[in-house]
Amino acid sequence: MKIRVLSAAEVRAALPMRDAMDAVREAFIALSAGQAVMPVRARVDVERAGGIGLTMPAYLAGPHELATKLVSVFPGNLERKPSLPTIHALVVVFDADTGLPAGVMDGGSLTAIRTGAASGVATEELAREDAEAAGMLGAGVQARTQLEAVLTARPQIRRAFVFDPRTAAAEAYAAEMSDRLRIPVKVLGSADAVVERSDVIAEATTATTPVFSDRALRDDAHLNAVGSFTPAMQIVPEATVVRASVVVDHRESAWEEAGDLIQPRDRGAITEEHVLAEIGEICAGRQPAPTRRPTLFKTVGTAVQDVAAGSAALRRAEEMDLGAVIEI
Ligand SMILES: NC(=O)c1ccc[n+]([C@@H]2O[C@H](COP(=O)([O-])OP(=O)(O)OC[C@H]3O[C@@H](n4cnc5c(N)ncnc54)[C@H](O)[C@@H]3O)[C@@H](O)[C@H]2O)c1
Repeated sequence: MKIRVLSAAEVRAALPMRDAMDAVREAFIALSAGQAVMPVRARVDVERAGGIGLTMPAYLAGPHELATKLVSVFPGNLERKPSLPTIHALVVVFDADTGLPAGVMDGGSLTAIRTGAASGVATEELAREDAEAAGMLGAGVQARTQLEAVLTARPQIRRAFVFDPRTAAAEAYAAEMSDRLRIPVKVLGSADAVVERSDVIAEATTATTPVFSDRALRDDAHLNAVGSFTPAMQIVPEATVVRASVVVDHRESAWEEAGDLIQPRDRGAITEEHVLAEIGEICAGRQPAPTRRPTLFKTVGTAVQDVAAGSAALRRAEEMDLGAVIEI
């Protein structure tokens, strides 16, 4: 049996952000229309190392795509010397007619691209058309594709701000992203300073408690909240969740995993009806986009994003003859 193997660099070459956003948009539409098979992901805790392992399979009926992601999240990796990325993953794409594995690829790069793409789609649907400033909370791996996606959605954005308590990481981020995206990216001294100055904000941190204060968030802002993916993590202030028009990637996954929403619900500050729509319902025109801002897109990440993005990357890699084809 022959399969194609793609490195991180090859995944990036095969999947530009615009293509990833198109694929993820279709995946969200299918998910919300009941045209995807996606169990809530299975999770194992690795207490001794403070990490977790996740298995994320899904099938998309429309394009007939099948894939599974195996992913680990080890936040302690940042403290290692030298530091290591928090997230490592492999994505296996299967032929949906025969079940034969067709490709295996680096899932860390794919995760970053598809997570950025989700926020990019939400930004297209929910943020002000005339947004001028983007704000990044966190200067890690996700923050890079978050900014790229926000700029793909709102290309007229002229400047960006970033805050990370690891100042050296924030400075490296600002230098790299100004160079890559050709806009000034400025490091600020607090999360509130970033939020106050920004029309579109991405929270992509490994924090577990709120990282900014609600009063810093403008009434006309849009926030993509990426970081929290367990009930114990509440990174968006409760007052922001209450005040915002809330849209999620997938209701069932959000109420299973998104501490940002679960904690305010459990304290009685919101009910589940506070979530106005899934982003796929808005993309399909089955629900209107909220008319009131601030808007909050809460994503915990869904396997359909990996299936759509992984399948698109593999198709393009075949056309470009990227990667190695190996016999296993
Ligand atoms: N929603 C999704 O689909 C999705 C996908 C991938 C990752 N994630 C989650 O997003 C988070 C970030 O992932 P990553 O790969 O970028 O991790 P990373 O380790 O590369 O970067 C996280 C950054 O957050 C910073 N940070 C911590 N506390 C902060 C604070 N109070 N204010 C500002 N910055 C702070 C850290 O210093 C670090 O630079 C993780 O929790 C990860 O599990 C979510």
